[in-house]
Amino acid sequence: MSAEHTSALTESNPKRLSPRKRAQSFLMLGIATRESEQAMDVSEKKRHAAQAALRYVREGMLIGIGTGSTVNLFIDALAAGGTRVAAAVSSSNASTERLAAAGIEVVDLNDAGTLELYVDGADEATRDRHLIKGGGGALTREKIVAAASRQFICIADDTKLVARLGTFPLPIEVIPMARRWVSEQLVRLGGRPVWREKLVTDHGNHILDVHGLTIPDPPALERELNQIAGVVTVGLFAIDPADLLLIAHDDRIEVI
Ligand code: 5RP
Repeated sequence: MSAEHTSALTESNPKRLSPRKRAQSFLMLGIATRESEQAMDVSEKKRHAAQAALRYVREGMLIGIGTGSTVNLFIDALAAGGTRVAAAVSSSNASTERLAAAGIEVVDLNDAGTLELYVDGADEATRDRHLIKGGGGALTREKIVAAASRQFICIADDTKLVARLGTFPLPIEVIPMARRWVSEQLVRLGGRPVWREKLVTDHGNHILDVHGLTIPDPPALERELNQIAGVVTVGLFAIDPADLLLIAHDDRIEVI
């Protein structure tokens, strides 16, 4: 039985942001606090995180755009805000459609070159700014556009902030013919890969969601997984982490 068919076995640039002291600081954005114990809705927090990223956007910038519900809110906020970007490079067909609908020109990365800013969400994030991404299946283009950008700002609600990565199953994009082989290697490493059967990526590939991995050293695991033949992109963004995390809590945006 192949690993993927049983639930039992079941992805140099000067990106570092300065000054460093901004990390760890708390930025009060005047978000209205509700009734004392009432927690803010997750989608509302995503909206606040998206809104907070607007302050990093400058008139005429070439910007990279990620994928997902938080990024959708960022695209909406960008379209509604007064700052006009020159154009955007998109990480997915879904984001391309939303950008076009918002009247933001989408250009090919090959025509754009290095981007000034990349904004994207995450499925999990640590205070080291290591990320798990790919829940929306767009990890390959996300990793490419992030790498091609000087600054990567990750926006997320506080449910995404974790002490250690790995509760969210790690997405890995694989060449279809290598799915079984890669699954077997992942089992050998202690993971339980599950084929996301209904999804074919924008590049015609498959995704394995790997459960049960303990990830004490995200950059090391990312390097190891990158070596498996047939792996296109590992959803760990740790060798080249986000430059800045904007985490929306109930009453504030935390900048990490
Ligand atoms: C898509 C991603 C997304 O950034 C991630 O899944 C978070 O999505 P959302 O903002 O909808 O919670 O990596 O591949």
